[in-house]
Amino acid sequence: MPSHVSFIMDGNRRYARKNKLKQVAGHEAGYFALLSMVTYCYELGIKYVTAYAFSIDNFNRRPEEVQSIMDLMTEKFELLCRKDSVVNGYSIRVHVSGNLQLLPQHSRDAANKLMSLTVNNFGLLLTICVAYTSTDEIIHAVEKCCEEKWVENDGRTISLADIEKRMYMEIAPDLDIVIRTSGENRLSNFLLWQTAKSYLYSTSALWLEIRIWHLVWAVFNFQRYQLLQKKEE
Ligand code: FPP
Repeated sequence: MPSHVSFIMDGNRRYARKNKLKQVAGHEAGYFALLSMVTYCYELGIKYVTAYAFSIDNFNRRPEEVQSIMDLMTEKFELLCRKDSVVNGYSIRVHVSGNLQLLPQHSRDAANKLMSLTVNNFGLLLTICVAYTSTDEIIHAVEKCCEEKWVENDGRTISLADIEKRMYMEIAPDLDIVIRTSGENRLSNFLLWQTAKSYLYSTSALWLEIRIWHLVWAVFNFQRYQLLQKKEE
């Protein structure tokens, strides 16, 4: 089985348009689709799940849309903090990854509260990338390395391990599978560092149309690809 599966949740607005829903209703339904995928992953024995919820570029959307997504996230993070929430039911630890300084205070507070309340959950690690881009993550890690080396003044050069230790995603192993919906085949600045050897699975289904069989099919293809690689060695 793969140990780390990620989702690029694309197509919420298209789904909302297609079904004559408000945009925010599309995003809210997208949140529930994510919870279903996470529970399926849990049942399959996958230990790490990462979802791309909001990129730094998404801040360039209309201010009303940005605000409604931020409000939605705050509301959902707060709901997940409850003892009877799905993350506590499945013992899911939630990590919110990205440049959290870019979030409004209420979303940042809710994210920090959720991370600290679930820190001892051990069933699965769910990383939600918010205010995230891979290039921002890499710049941030390199800056941190330079600052620390400057203070230590030990004359050592920066190693791969130095950078990896300072990544937002340091908490999880590299990805096995990236699943992207809506027929797009790009990574869109998502986990570029951590996907060097990942299997990419793209489906034409919109995010809200994703079902368990998409996940199972992606896992099956990943396993076939692993097997073929082993045979070649
Ligand atoms: C991509 O579809 C989706 C987003 C940019 C927002 C996703 C946010 C959520 C699902 C809410 C998540 C909340 C929590 C707490 C995880 P799109 O808007 O780019 O749709 P399009 O491709 O049809 O334009």
